[in-house]
Amino acid sequence: MLAMMKVLVLVLSLFSAGLTDDEINSRYFPEGFKFGVANAATQIEGGWLEDGKTESVWDRFAHTHPELIADRSTPDIACDSYHKYKEDVAMVKAMGLDYYRLSIAWARILPTGHADKVNQAGVQYYKNLFAELKAANVEPMVTLYHWDLPQNLEDLHGGWLDETMADHFAEYARLCFELFKDDVKMWITINEPKQVCQGGYGTGLLAPGVVSNGVGEYICAKNVILAHAKAYHIYNDEFRATNQGRIAMVIDTTWYEPGSDSEEDQEASERILQFNFGLYANPIFIGNWPQVVIDRVAQRSELEGFNSSRLPSFTDEEIAYVKGTYDYLALNHYSTNMANATADSPIGDPSYANDISVLTWRQPEWPSGAADWFAVVPWGLRHLLVWLKKTYGDVEIVITENGLSDTTGIMEDDHRISYYQGYLSACLDAIYEDGVNLSTYTAWSIIDDWEWNGGYTSFLGMYYVNFTDPERTRIPRKSASWFTNMVATRCLVDTCTE
Ligand code: BGC
Repeated sequence: MLAMMKVLVLVLSLFSAGLTDDEINSRYFPEGFKFGVANAATQIEGGWLEDGKTESVWDRFAHTHPELIADRSTPDIACDSYHKYKEDVAMVKAMGLDYYRLSIAWARILPTGHADKVNQAGVQYYKNLFAELKAANVEPMVTLYHWDLPQNLEDLHGGWLDETMADHFAEYARLCFELFKDDVKMWITINEPKQVCQGGYGTGLLAPGVVSNGVGEYICAKNVILAHAKAYHIYNDEFRATNQGRIAMVIDTTWYEPGSDSEEDQEASERILQFNFGLYANPIFIGNWPQVVIDRVAQRSELEGFNSSRLPSFTDEEIAYVKGTYDYLALNHYSTNMANATADSPIGDPSYANDISVLTWRQPEWPSGAADWFAVVPWGLRHLLVWLKKTYGDVEIVITENGLSDTTGIMEDDHRISYYQGYLSACLDAIYEDGVNLSTYTAWSIIDDWEWNGGYTSFLGMYYVNFTDPERTRIPRKSASWFTNMVATRCLVDTCTE
């Protein structure tokens, strides 16, 4: 009873903190604007060792580090989409969506990670999925790499710390471009390199769990960027003319609002954005790492006694090779923090966070998403979109993930509706008021899934999944019908204007 009361109070406080009707943008989404939902192989497929698939680093990590997964669970079965993909597609179709964003599990296609042995059963799974989507008139948006490195590549090469990874990824990418050239036109190379590198090879809190603070993450960043660029060039040179699709890397960031108008706080906000987003985006959109990152890591490395910067440099040739490897800017965004200047972290403990040395915090009045990393701040998305336009120019922006994470899983998820309404309203403000070239909004997610360290305790789905039922039954939450209606009307309120 007490638990129920708590949920109720929480939901009411989340709800009441949403935007009022007057604050929600009442323009229609522009003609041609596209909507989708997203998910990723590890989080929904299951079938972890089925039909020739081998372990990924996340399979291994969940099995060997249960203490780092909230409910000590594994993604072995997840939503069982490996068997139930037709149901997923039917749900996407019923919602009237343009895109279904999904990822290919590298270890399902190439069990060793290398291109020598192609697993036909794995290929067939994706062929079937694409055929189902085609019949439903929904376009696939396909991520080649959503964190699930084949364990064999980690064991043999040390994963993303190794320079040969760009070649291995490029081989895999070429194979997918070839295999699925008739099925896919909207490609994504890599999802959220920051999480792959900072979590996987810095703090070690994400798979493969390598702890190398302030060193591994920058080596990884360079290798991931080169891998992306190589895949882009292969696509560009060998497939673009016939496939006529588009390709980009997905980069994520929280928005960091300056804590005050002071020059120091403005600078702190810019610095943390450059470390978070610019580290990956600058090489692609501008050329080379952001100057502030080059300078700070070099300075601190020297004071720490390193012989050279912990941030590996790009050669001029590499800078030219990476620059321009995008067809659009793909953004994942969930939440906002405030950023204040603070004294530089003491020397002696190299880390990415210490390299940044910015104080981040949340306004107490911001509604929480009921997951501790989350605050609901729709205007943060608008500020971020404007910052992207200012920093990278008038490039087309595709939002590839945005959604509300909660720990209640309740079916009457008014707080999720309020989140979508607020964030979509911020998109309209950015389009109409700020002239941001935003073409697409992809929600995370259509179904509850295995949320990495959150296991099955963190809910983002518009459909609930019963993870204790062998059938993994999917049931729509209230937000599913709200979102369906929004897509049909292209409008966030009762009556919209052009
Ligand atoms: C990831 C997703 C994840 C989502 C919500 C993003 O960082 O790309 O895989 O499920 O956040 O936690």
